[in-house]
Parts: sequence; structure tokens; C-alpha cells
Amino acid sequence: MKRALLAGLAIGATAGAAAMFVATRPHAATPAPATVAIAPVFVPPLAADAPADAYGDAVRLGARLMTDTAKLAPGYVGNGLVCSNCHLDAGRKAGAAPLWAAFVNFPAFRKKNGEINSFQKRVQDCFLYSLNGTPPPLGSRELLAIETYAAFLARGLPSGMSPAGRGFPALAPPALPADDARGANVFAEKCASCHGSDGAGQAVAGGTGYPPLWGARSFAWGAGMATIDKAAAFIHANMPLGQEGSLSVQQAWDVANFIDGQVRPQDPRYSVSLEATRKRHHDSPFSRYGTVVRGERLGESASTPVARED
Ligand code: HEC
Ligand code: HEC
Repeated sequence: MKRALLAGLAIGATAGAAAMFVATRPHAATPAPATVAIAPVFVPPLAADAPADAYGDAVRLGARLMTDTAKLAPGYVGNGLVCSNCHLDAGRKAGAAPLWAAFVNFPAFRKKNGEINSFQKRVQDCFLYSLNGTPPPLGSRELLAIETYAAFLARGLPSGMSPAGRGFPALAPPALPADDARGANVFAEKCASCHGSDGAGQAVAGGTGYPPLWGARSFAWGAGMATIDKAAAFIHANMPLGQEGSLSVQQAWDVANFIDGQVRPQDPRYSVSLEATRKRHHDSPFSRYGTVVRGERLGESASTPVARED
């Protein structure tokens, strides 16, 4: 074991030295390669490669909970989404809030609730807001499996540091203030074919379909995706699916502003009034909750609880 490790290190060292030599030799007959040893983004393992034992079973259950959330965790999901609609590739994709990058950063303090959150507590929040559901209890089979899967993906990553690929890539602010009319155009041209012109998503026979972006079956007010800055960063890095990175920075902000200016399920923290709830939880230029858009006060029609189909 120790020998293999040392041999591995020796090979790494030789390759590194050779690369350095090539890169620093100005008059070499062979030109130096353009890029030398750029630190790659962490590549997590596949759930299928987990061992064939109880631990591996928990890893595989965790992976399936990411992609088949409502089916495997019925009663905990209140909308038409699954975890991997946002945490792409079952939580493996860098730049789409991957689970491996999150795992090594918990427990952590969160401003949202003013306390130290365990990894399981963080996942509960996505059940509550992003899946508009009732979170499984701490220590439940579901949260344990998702946590075990995340730990498996993060194997080999040091804890306490944010690895490259965590969250969504930082997005520059827009040149012009985000605008609904331009956002509606971006949506019609680049998103509606999959997500539907009413934003409600589409079921596809035999496939997983396209998830809803607003309306009763989408994420609730209070979800990260309901804040314009987070949505713009996600969209710029990950959408349109298959053509990610093709939107301009301005287009990403405009379309995020448009989507986050639509009706969606009520914030589970709603109390007293829209004004009070906005002041307490949405006091940010990136949330349109409680503001008037196209003649309608956002959060108003959502404040009557929507019947849930699980
Ligand atoms: C080719 C089809 C396609 C196009 C075009 C597309 N998307 Fe998506 N989008 C998807 C799919 C599929 C997912 C879920 C990914 C998964 O489950 O692996 C998704 C997920 C999302 C999500 C997160 C989940 C949710 O429902 O909130 C957002 C936000 C989103 N897309 C916004 C956009 C925007 C904005 C555009 C246009 C700029 C766009 N998409 C264009 C297919 C598409
Ligand atoms: C509608 C989209 C959406 C869905 C569905 C969703 N999440 Fe999230 N999740 C987010 C956003 C947005 C963030 C915040 C990312 C950031 O701040 O960089 C987040 C953050 C997280 C984090 C912390 C990431 C970090 O790096 O700190 C974890 C863990 C997580 N989600 C797990 C889950 C799990 C498990 C599910 C399913 C039970 C789920 N999420 C469903 C959008 C979603």
C-alpha cells in the first residue's frame, strides 16, 4: 500500500519536473505545450462504483434520491421537482452546486437561520423551499442516504475549503439593470421550447421531462433559485441545457429577473403580511417577493395554500 503510494508520488514528481522543464526552456526545438498542469476540477466517483455492501447500498440510495426524489421520498416533496433538476448529474456537476463541494464545508453557519447547520440540516432546507415540501427528519433514512452519497462523492477532498466548482460560478453584474421585457424575449427564444411557454415544464413520455420554472409545481419563495443573482448564475453556467455558456451575462440576468418575477408557492416562513414577510426575509434587490409585477403583487395569489399532488 505504502509502496504503491510512493510509486504514484514518484511518477507525479517526474511528470511535474518534465513539464516544468519544457515550459521554462525558451529555445527548445519542440514548442512547450500551451497549458501545463492546470489544477483540474475535482472529479467525483460514480455511485455505481460504490462497494457491494451496506455502505454502498446507502450511497446508491442517496444517488437515486437525487434523481427520483418524489418517488423515493413520497410525502416530503410538494412540487414537480427533483434534486437533480438543479444539482445536475445527480449532484456531481461542478458549477451546479455539487454535493461533494458542499459536503466538505459543513457544519457551517448560515445567515438564513442564524445557526450552525449540519449537512443534513442544509439538505432539509432544499426539501422545504426548493421542493416546497416537508423535510424528512434529521437522522431519517432519506437524509442519511443523501449524506452518505455526498460523503462518498467527496472522498479525498480536504474539509473546510471551498473547492473549485462549488455553488455556481460567480457572474458579473449586468451592464444594464435586468429587464422583464428583454427577459421575456430570452425566455421565448431560448427556454420555452423545453420549459413550456407558461413556464410550467413538460412531461415527456418515457423520460424525465422538463421541470417547471414557476407556478404551483415550481420551487417556493425562499428557495435559492427564487433570488435573481443565484438564478442568473445557475442559468448562465448551466442553461439552455446542451448549450450552456451560450447566453450573454445580460441575457442571463434578464431571464432570471423574468422567471423570479412570476407566481410561485408561498414562502413557508410567511407570517402576518406580505410586507412583514418581505421585510424579514426578502429585504434584497434580488428578491421580487411582495413587489408589484404586471399589476400583481408577488406572493399574494400564492399566499392561499396550493393543493399538493405528490
Ligand atoms: C433543451 C431543453 C432545455 C432548454 C432549452 C432549457 N432548459 Fe432549463 N432545464 C432543462 C432540463 C432537462 C432541466 C433539469 C436538468 C436535469 O434534471 O438534469 C432544466 C433545469 C432548469 C432549471 C432548474 C430547475 C427548475 O425547474 O427550476 C432552471 C432554473 C432552468 N432550467 C432555466 C432555464 C432557462 C432560463 C432556459 C433558457 C435560457 C432554459 N432553462 C433552457 C432543459 C432545458
Ligand atoms: C430548484 C432548485 C433546487 C432543487 C430542486 C434543490 N436544490 Fe439544493 N440548492 C439549490 C440552490 C440554488 C442552492 C444554493 C447554491 C449556492 O448558494 O451556491 C442549493 C444548495 C444546496 C446544498 C448546499 C450547497 C453548498 O455548496 O453549500 C445542498 C447540500 C443541497 N442544495 C442539496 C439538495 C438536495 C439533496 C436536494 C433534493 C432533496 C436539493 N438540494 C434540491 C437549488 C435546489
